[in-house]
Amino acid sequence: MRTYKFDNDDLMPAIGLGTWQAAPGEIGAAVHEALRLGYRHLDCAAVYGNEAEIGEALQETFSKGQVRREDLWITSKLWNTAHAPDQVQPALGKTLADLRLDYLDLYLIHWPVAMRPDCRYPKVPEDMISLEELPITSTWSAMEEAKRSGLTRHIGVSNFSISKLRDLVTRASTPPEVNQIELHPYLQQGDMLAYCREQGITLTAYSPLGSKGRPAGLREPDEPVLLEDPTLQAIATRYQASVAQVALAWAVQRGTSVIPKSVNAKRLAENLAAAELTLTAEDMRQIAAMDRHRRYVSGGFWAIKGGPYTLQNLWDE
Ligand code: A2P
Repeated sequence: MRTYKFDNDDLMPAIGLGTWQAAPGEIGAAVHEALRLGYRHLDCAAVYGNEAEIGEALQETFSKGQVRREDLWITSKLWNTAHAPDQVQPALGKTLADLRLDYLDLYLIHWPVAMRPDCRYPKVPEDMISLEELPITSTWSAMEEAKRSGLTRHIGVSNFSISKLRDLVTRASTPPEVNQIELHPYLQQGDMLAYCREQGITLTAYSPLGSKGRPAGLREPDEPVLLEDPTLQAIATRYQASVAQVALAWAVQRGTSVIPKSVNAKRLAENLAAAELTLTAEDMRQIAAMDRHRRYVSGGFWAIKGGPYTLQNLWDE
């Protein structure tokens, strides 16, 4: 499996297990199965509501000696309600307690969006806090402190545009080490990939399979279905692989890490095995031509009328 090296020689495995939309009651078994199959990278977040069950599965695995903590790469994310600098460490502490870990490998600011502490998801404009009122740089200082304290080995961001990344890189004493964004053949973000390469920022691809398990409220009618794309299907047929494997192999070959979510044993194995698939330059060219700037996770839930966030100022495009 390809890995990405950080400045202290830590290695992030290219394919990790995504846990968004993995319901409590099924994620524990999925983590056991994933670790048994050989996954060594887990992507979590406080807001997914399943870290306690993941922590239980991890604890059982460690206590049986099946996998050692130091052999895993575990990411989690700071929710929007805890951007105030004095809230960062408590939020990280809660995640560590739920995951039953002493440290994370990577802690990310989940969105460049701040919200009042008492709401989980915003309903009215007053639930939101603008970035002028609570700047990312002050949240970032607390993230840097979390890294210094050893509670996380690396820090980064998620859902940041190039312009927000550039701003943070300029102002931070520790630059972000990772940006995690939606990336797949319908949303290739070539400029972001080039910028991150130039800056030595590792890019992680979420929703790499087109996020077909999203709740109905986050879908649009007549969305294009990535896994039914004829170009991907034709390439998959040639390798006797699945379409999902082609999408994952493409992500790894572009130099991104990738975190497909599955709670199904067969698909977990299939996704991990994508690490063995090598696409030709011609395959990569055909997939490059599929880009259509299609975001499945639009971020529209932050753009509450009368609030400080719009799709334009969220994505800077
Ligand atoms: P399941 O958990 O039942 O396997 P993404 O990572 O883009 O958000 O996609 C996750 C969605 O894709 C989930 O609905 C997941 O369902 C499904 N999925 C995961 N792996 C595969 C695969 N190899 N083939 C088809 N669907 C998959």
